[in-house]
Amino acid sequence: MKIASIVGARPQFIKCAPVSRELRKEHEEILVHTGQHYDHGMSEVFFEELAIPKPDYNLGIGSGTHGRQTGVMLGAIEDVLEREKPDVVLVYGDTNSTFAGALAAAKLHVPVAHVEAGLRSFDRRMPEELNRVLTDHASDLLFCPTKTAVANLAAEGLTRGVHLVGDVMVDAMNYNRSIAEERSRVLEEVGVGPGEYLVVTVHRPSNTDDREKMVAILGALGEAGKPVVFPVHPRTWKCLTGYGLLTKMPENIRVVEPLGYLDMIRLTAHAEKILTDSGGVQKEAYMLGVPCITLRENTEWVETVETGWNVLVGAEKGRITDAIRHFSPGVRQRNLFGDGNASVLIGKILTRHQNTRSG
Ligand code: UD1
Ligand code: UDP
Repeated sequence: MKIASIVGARPQFIKCAPVSRELRKEHEEILVHTGQHYDHGMSEVFFEELAIPKPDYNLGIGSGTHGRQTGVMLGAIEDVLEREKPDVVLVYGDTNSTFAGALAAAKLHVPVAHVEAGLRSFDRRMPEELNRVLTDHASDLLFCPTKTAVANLAAEGLTRGVHLVGDVMVDAMNYNRSIAEERSRVLEEVGVGPGEYLVVTVHRPSNTDDREKMVAILGALGEAGKPVVFPVHPRTWKCLTGYGLLTKMPENIRVVEPLGYLDMIRLTAHAEKILTDSGGVQKEAYMLGVPCITLRENTEWVETVETGWNVLVGAEKGRITDAIRHFSPGVRQRNLFGDGNASVLIGKILTRHQNTRSG
């Protein structure tokens, strides 16, 4: 079977690594990088560290407004699909690259398989929510990481082709956790000791594009009374520079460039708590048993909140400060994201689907 996998943004490189490794045991994979993320630290570093095969195509789309970026991707992906004629197109997550890949394939009547299907924040102002809904409704195979995701799809009338496979980020974590411990020197480089610091990541436009919210978040972190390591996403870097906040950073906040995956998971694993508006980081905090404070009013990873390991605090200084001081999960963890065999299951289901189509 010939599979075209479409990736373009940081979390997709991480998600595709275990799946790609599995699929290539039996199938031909064409890897298409849209070029949505292009800095070395947002793209290449993941291909190097995670031994992801070099993309067969890098479309070099780069940054742009939502419509333009998605539209240019759509045309460029269509060209690749017409040339390569894959049996199935695989897309990941909820970025503009995800939706462009799904739509290009669906319009050409190529079956679409969506990894991380069924996630919903029920907040249509999030660009990702539109990408999730539209991608799911254009997909033939919907690979869900959680039971909630399966239920969300059923509520929208999507039941055919839906498979609960678990989360591929567990596969990535299992594969890389001990490698990260061996290879990463990030704690030493940043100068923090295990259990004695917080980590923060912020990149959602609902936070970064609002100066007051960034002031509130940084204000709360500045009063944490301990080191805070802050790997800064390029969008956030641009916003903080524009607001004049990068030069006024509280002294305890260690601003660093975006980290590679191995550094990021080692840093997260040894943090006292993590503050984030990222989807992937909320899950990784749970997998690593680190309490998570989510700088949003909603989340699509509702199970992490229900089990008491994640708390939603928005971007309000008082709520963030309170959570930094007092938030403490009271209950033991249970398995939310599967056993780390999502990639194997995805491979099996794709093979079965292809056999049914051709037989
Ligand atoms: C995108 C995804 C988001 C995902 C995030 C992961 C969409 C709508 N958003 O958000 O769902 O959580 O990736 O990190 O698809 N930039 C650089 N260098 C890069 C990449 C981006 O400087 O390599 C800067 C550019 O100024 C760009 C801005 O970051 O305009 C935002 O990049 P973009 O890919 O549009 O969205 P993200 O915020 O990264
Ligand atoms: N990540 C990373 N370096 C960083 C920040 C995040 O490697 O400096 C990883 C993180 O461990 C997770 C993924 O990137 O695996 C999450 O991506 P991101 O937060 O950019 O996007 P989201 O998950 O919100 O879509």
